[in-house]
Amino acid sequence: MTITTENPDVSTPKSRHPVLEILDVSKSFPVRDGFKTRSLSAVDHVSLSVDEGTTLGIVGESGCGKSTLARIIVGLHTASNGEIIFDGKQISTTGKRDRAAVEQMQMVFQDPSSALNPRATISESIAFPLRVQGVAADEIDRRVAKVMADVGLPSNYAGNYPHQLSGGQRQRVNIARALALQPKLIVLDEAVSALDKSIQAQVLNLLEDLQEEYGLTYVFISHDLNVIEYISDRIAVMYLGQVVESGAASDLYEHPLHPYTQLLFSSIPNLDPDESRRDDPEAVDAGEIPSPLNPPSGCRFRTRCSFAHDRCASEAPVQVEVSSGHTVACHLYPEGGARDLVELLPGVSQQ
Ligand SMILES: Nc1ncnc2c1ncn2[C@@H]1O[C@H](COP(=O)(O)OP(=O)(O)OP(=O)(O)O)[C@@H](O)[C@H]1O
Ligand code: SF4
Ligand SMILES: [Mg+2]
Repeated sequence: MTITTENPDVSTPKSRHPVLEILDVSKSFPVRDGFKTRSLSAVDHVSLSVDEGTTLGIVGESGCGKSTLARIIVGLHTASNGEIIFDGKQISTTGKRDRAAVEQMQMVFQDPSSALNPRATISESIAFPLRVQGVAADEIDRRVAKVMADVGLPSNYAGNYPHQLSGGQRQRVNIARALALQPKLIVLDEAVSALDKSIQAQVLNLLEDLQEEYGLTYVFISHDLNVIEYISDRIAVMYLGQVVESGAASDLYEHPLHPYTQLLFSSIPNLDPDESRRDDPEAVDAGEIPSPLNPPSGCRFRTRCSFAHDRCASEAPVQVEVSSGHTVACHLYPEGGARDLVELLPGVSQQ
């Protein structure tokens, strides 16, 4: 696939200093298929950037590569190719990272329980990574008390064990543990998905407050479009390992351009006659997602796209900036300016 050499994802409403730049990152997994080993393309030539103090939301159906990308960012997976620039410095995507990069990027996972040692108290869990980093004992005590207060955990919970806490409280412990290392960037992979709606809202508010207080930058992954809309400054939409559209959250929700984004956001009446699907963000149909072991030629979305034409099978679309900071990879949007689907395809209305 050809990609633009410039990173298209460049501006946000809050700041213009990128903390994280992902440049042309790919990841393939070797997968056994009968007697053969084949290559599964989980992340394919992804370029994104996230400005300091802002939140990049990443959205897409299950299996589109969100977690793989998250794990590459924090160094839990090596990349097959590509570069990552963190806080102005290139960091390794294929080997061991230096300590500062490890400390300054933290990750919070979906399941608040499995990330915690059931035999460690809350304060021990939060202190553990600080001990590993060799932080002095009195500084550990100070930081543990501070982050517990910051995430809204009463100090008398310090000696409790995870099973004595609710799901929301356990996720607060995970957030506190990430915060204790004083990171610049936190990658949150479905971090509120396992929580009840009311608890989700509390944790999202907490994350916003912490972002303000600490100047944190977030990469926030979710399949829940309501959560993504609430938390994100910018959004990247992924399909079968690729970013198909990215832009300011308001632009994507008000003017989704890529046919997949429109399908995902259920905003084309003829693709989505049932308006109620907006409340059920997982209700995406228009056919099966192809296997990443054998993605379609050209545009990977073409087997589900109502607008597919000959060129879509033979040529992969490149990212085109259709308006300031809003990029889309689709042949309906040729380089040189935005074109409306309504204009291109009379009879198809767009909200
Ligand atoms: N360790 C692995 N070995 C082989 N294939 C993998 C591995 N990890 C992920 N994959 C495959 O890579 C693709 C992307 O997976 P990934 O977990 O990143 O998707 P996701 O968008 O996070 O999905 P979900 O929303 O279900 O969490 C999937 O096809 C998955 O089966
Ligand atoms: S490139 Fe073609 S198949 Fe892909 S989304 Fe655009 S119109 Fe559809
Ligand atoms: Mg995932």
